[in-house]
This record gives sequence, structure tokens and C-alpha cells, in this order.
Amino acid sequence: MINLGILLSGRGSNFEAIARAVKEGRIPAQIALVISNREEARGLLLARKMGLATRFIPSAEKTRETFESELLAALKESKADYICLAGFMRVLSRSFVRAYPRRILNIHPSLLPAFPGGDAQKQALEHGVKFTGCTVHFVDEGVDTGPIILQAVVAVLEDDSVETLSARILEEEHRIYPEAVRLLAQGCLDVHGRRIFCSDHDR
Ligand code: GRF
Repeated sequence: MINLGILLSGRGSNFEAIARAVKEGRIPAQIALVISNREEARGLLLARKMGLATRFIPSAEKTRETFESELLAALKESKADYICLAGFMRVLSRSFVRAYPRRILNIHPSLLPAFPGGDAQKQALEHGVKFTGCTVHFVDEGVDTGPIILQAVVAVLEDDSVETLSARILEEEHRIYPEAVRLLAQGCLDVHGRRIFCSDHDR
């Protein structure tokens, strides 16, 4: 069984979706550690309530190197094999990513490579696309550029606001992030460069 480390900074609803799937036995993995760089993050409070191992590692007032070396030490100690970024509001350095090659997952609220970076839902609305969605991908050394594991499409409605569109995308995030972690945990993902093939024939 694989060990997951979760990094978050806020609401933690994607973490919650993964944790529920683990608890219900849908993902053959255990959550070894939940780390937040914000003490007041709802996700951190939830993880504590669930009885999971948690760490608050502040990122403020220290260099990125120091912060990341603290993260890495905690993750190594927890024996995390894979890391799930779940609303973690820090960009990881090249050296951090190299410590976990193809072992860090992220969820992004757009159909990458469209609308990387912040405010993806607002970018999609302003661009006038008819469809957007969400993407689970491995993290590489760029921002939202890594190989794509799963995507889900969401139609943009004429009366959508950033809030209504974000809410419908979030529902899909909660579906595909646990699903991607399940495929990973079951050893169903074959990585061929940028292309990832899924050998799960139930899908
Ligand atoms: C989600 O929209 C996710 O796509 C993005 O950050 C948000 C995190 O939400 N990376 P939550 O903390 O998981 O509720």
C-alpha cells in the first residue's frame, strides 16, 4: 500500500474527497501526513478531526529553501511515497520536484494547458470559452505543465459567474482527484513521456 503526503493551504475540499475515498476503501493507500503552511486552514482542522498525522509548517518569514527543507524532512519522516497537492498555494522549486520525480500530483481548475496559474476559472470566463474543466497532473518543474493524468469537462453557461462556474468545476475535481489517486495506488498508470496511459479496464 502506498503512503500519501498531502500539502494544503486552505479549504481542503479536495483533500477531504481523497480522505473519504481512502476511508471507504476505494483507494488502496494510507494518508501518512497532512501538512499545511497556514495554521487556520480548514483542511488542517479537518485532518486533525479525522485523527490523521498533521503538521503546521509555516512558510512566512523564511526562505523557500528553508521552508522546503522542512517540508521534505517531514515527508521523509512520514515515509510518504507520493505527494498530493490539494490547494497548496506555494510553487515548489525544481530541487523539491526532483526529490519526488513523477511522484507529486496536483489538481488545477481548468483544462490544461489552457489557463495555467491563478484565477483559472476567471481566465476561462474572460476568454469566453464554452467548455472548461479540471485537470489532475503530475508536477514537473514548470507551473501547471506536467503530464496529464485525468481531465473532466465542464460547460460554461451564459449566466455563469466565477463562483457558479468554480462550484461546478469543484464537483468534478472531487470526482477525478480521488480517481487519479486510485489509479496511481493500483499501479494502473503507465507514463510514456508526457503521455499517461491507464491500464484499468473498468474505466
Ligand atoms: C481547487 O480549485 C483546486 O483546483 C486548486 O485550488 C483549489 C483548492 O480547493 N488547485 P480545496 O482547498 O481543495 O477546497
